[in-house]
Amino acid sequence: MASSPSHRRPFLPHLLGSLLLAVDLAFAGDPYVYFDWDVSYTTSSPLGVKQQVVGVNGQFPGPILNITTNWNVIVNVHNNLDEPFLVTWDGLQLRKNSWEDGVLGTNCPIPSGWNWTYEFQVKDQIGSFFYFPSINFHRASGGYGGITINNRDVIPVPFGTPDGDMTIFIGDWYTKDHKELRKILDEGSELGMPDGVLFNGLGPFRYNESIVPGGIVHATINVEPGKTYRLRVHNVGISTSLNFRIQNHNMLLVETEGSYTVQQNYTSMDIHVGQSYSFLVTMDQNASSDYYVVASARFVNETIRKQVTGVAILHYSNSQGSASGPLPDGPIEDDTYFSMNQARSIRWNVSAGAARPNPQGSFRYGQITVTDVYILLNLPAEPINGNLRTTLNGISYIDPSTPLKLAQQFNVPGVYKLDFPNRSMNRPAKLDTSIINGTYKGFMEIIFQNNATTVQSYHLDGYAFFVVGMDFGIWTENSRGTYNKWDGVARCTTQVFPGAWTAILVSLDNVGIWNLRAENLDSWYLGQELYVSVVNPEVTNKTELPLPDNAIFCGALSSLQKQQSHRFKYSEASTIFTTSSVVVFGLIIMLSILC
Ligand SMILES: *[C@@H]1O[C@H](CO)[C@@H](O)[C@H](O)[C@H]1NC(C)=O
Ligand SMILES: *[C@@H]1O[C@H](CO)[C@@H](O)[C@H](O)[C@H]1NC(C)=O
Ligand SMILES: *[C@@H]1O[C@H](CO)[C@@H](O)[C@H](O)[C@H]1NC(C)=O
Ligand SMILES: *[C@@H]1O[C@H](CO)[C@@H](O)[C@H](O)[C@H]1NC(C)=O
Ligand SMILES: *[C@@H]1O[C@H](CO)[C@@H](O)[C@H](O)[C@H]1NC(C)=O
Ligand SMILES: *[C@@H]1O[C@H](CO)[C@@H](O)[C@H](O)[C@H]1NC(C)=O
Ligand SMILES: *[C@@H]1O[C@H](CO)[C@@H](O)[C@H](O)[C@H]1NC(C)=O
Ligand SMILES: *[C@@H]1O[C@H](CO)[C@@H](O)[C@H](O)[C@H]1NC(C)=O
Ligand SMILES: *[C@@H]1O[C@H](CO)[C@@H](O)[C@H](O)[C@H]1NC(C)=O
Ligand SMILES: *[C@@H]1O[C@H](CO)[C@@H](O)[C@H](O)[C@H]1NC(C)=O
Ligand SMILES: *[C@@H]1O[C@H](CO)[C@@H](O)[C@H](O)[C@H]1NC(C)=O
Repeated sequence: MASSPSHRRPFLPHLLGSLLLAVDLAFAGDPYVYFDWDVSYTTSSPLGVKQQVVGVNGQFPGPILNITTNWNVIVNVHNNLDEPFLVTWDGLQLRKNSWEDGVLGTNCPIPSGWNWTYEFQVKDQIGSFFYFPSINFHRASGGYGGITINNRDVIPVPFGTPDGDMTIFIGDWYTKDHKELRKILDEGSELGMPDGVLFNGLGPFRYNESIVPGGIVHATINVEPGKTYRLRVHNVGISTSLNFRIQNHNMLLVETEGSYTVQQNYTSMDIHVGQSYSFLVTMDQNASSDYYVVASARFVNETIRKQVTGVAILHYSNSQGSASGPLPDGPIEDDTYFSMNQARSIRWNVSAGAARPNPQGSFRYGQITVTDVYILLNLPAEPINGNLRTTLNGISYIDPSTPLKLAQQFNVPGVYKLDFPNRSMNRPAKLDTSIINGTYKGFMEIIFQNNATTVQSYHLDGYAFFVVGMDFGIWTENSRGTYNKWDGVARCTTQVFPGAWTAILVSLDNVGIWNLRAENLDSWYLGQELYVSVVNPEVTNKTELPLPDNAIFCGALSSLQKQQSHRFKYSEASTIFTTSSVVVFGLIIMLSILC
């Protein structure tokens, strides 16, 4: 069995039907894997305060999508929240298929009580990503989980097979839920300092009784001495940059967001909101006791850092006792210079293969002529029409009631404008639905200029981009002289330090309408977002998949929507198909009566 299917829980009473069927079909295409997700509230007290969190199949964090390059993934998402819901697949390129991106520019939200089935292929991708709810500030209440894309057997991985593979979510956390946090922002206030940092949905180990209250359940990572583990670490938080470290252990960086990196040891790594890294960690210590695993807020004073710190426990099977004493220190220099230098030290291993047998560096991005340049300026939030809003180039994005992609497909006029300015204009900030008219097969340079006082991370859907430069001050044409034109890492989320710029290059070869956003949830919620429309001028059905049959319609297209029936169907089973020979190799039917 190549993979484990969904851990399905009943979302309707009476009957639990869990069907696991694995079929090998000769000559079929790439394998299909099916998941059934019940998204509903569940309660948890990660910081000692009972609160409502968003669970997926009752789990918080949600289940890991453990899949392999080129698999077709079908996820039937049942929205059992009291609000519309969408999930997005951070880092998945969804080739030719922005229909499945799960953001408001491409999809109508799944109404409360409805379900919607995503279907996409993870074409030519490997690596560590995560999914999360993209609307209504839901991510602040959870709903996220890992996406692990394994290499196909024929593609070598540039390191030995680790003895274990673990996914770790770190993120700042508030004891207020997403509705309360939304209200704070809607009223024009700031969220203030988070109440803590969670590790896989759990609060800190009580390393100091005067700092961490009693009764909190912490995360434990169980390991065997001498073994090497791959840790996939994701910052799924709201807005805090975190320093991640493991007491007395080196972390060998091997992958970030789908690219194999030059392998280097770090004692700690700054992980910004939305970023993902894989480390190999060898359990090479004399386990006289357990060790601390720490994720602490960066660029804040000590008082705040004490509160905004997550602590998990690394437990060797032969450990003699629990971890004690002070936490290991983070970087001595608590400034953005140190952090920027660390970011610059992350390089692409251009000779490693990834999803395909050819080396990653065979796409020589440094030699390609740039066709479009956008300088995107972030200013601190400011009032627009009486509401506090964030902007890029003076525009605060407004989601239209009709998704852009559907408006484009059905020629609904007036939904959006293809006039996003290529630099900040000398005019007052405004609310608008203005997007970038991307050039299909063009090569775009985007410079993020951060004039605010906190680190921002930016993410582009549908693509991996090359991070070619970052520096303090204001970007000028001369800054191009400092670009890394050889081994800048290809990823999907980059940080931009305050008072600094980051430059990326991206090849616009994926047709669709793609979201470009701040990953910091508050900046995003307040308008720091836009889309890049990439249209193939040639009329062909080869560069984009058709509108999915099950598309939900809303806004100006609501009349196309049929009412959804909610009858429980026995066939809503978890099913896996893999290819190669005609063998039906497993059929398990489980029935059980609830209550
Ligand atoms: C994920 O899938 C890979 C390849 O199919 C398998 O080797 C691995 O054990 C799975 N990992 C987990 C945690 O299920
Ligand atoms: C909703 O789920 C049912 C099975 O429970 C499935 O048959 C149907 O296709 C799903 N609807 C959509 C719009 O995906
Ligand atoms: C880069 O990848 C190649 C090919 O897998 C591997 O042999 C080499 O050790 C890697 N280099 C570094 C510095 O990580
Ligand atoms: C616990 O934290 C308090 C407050 O920061 C500090 O004064 C004290 O020394 C710490 N205790 C230990 C055992 O480290
Ligand atoms: C990384 O550190 C480990 C010790 O923790 C060491 O064995 C290994 O050689 C180092 N690797 C590199 C590439 O520096
Ligand atoms: C482990 O213990 C042995 C014997 O006490 C010692 O020689 C060795 O240096 C220790 N290794 C580490 C990594 O602490
Ligand atoms: C730490 O920073 C917070 C927020 O910026 C501020 O309110 C607080 O006074 C600072 N504390 C110290 C000891 O500097
Ligand atoms: C922005 O577009 C204008 C034309 O609309 C052009 O003249 C200018 O060179 C462009 N700026 C950049 C940075 O590409
Ligand atoms: C968008 O760009 C294409 C060329 O890539 C051009 O033909 C089209 O006129 C542009 N549309 C707008 C509204 O600027
Ligand atoms: C923002 O821009 C102004 C004007 O160029 C400059 O004086 C200020 O230092 C900048 N602040 C940051 C944080 O970049
Ligand atoms: C694509 O277009 C061709 C010719 O117009 C047609 O024969 C073919 O069926 C279409 N394919 C799909 C998947 O729609």
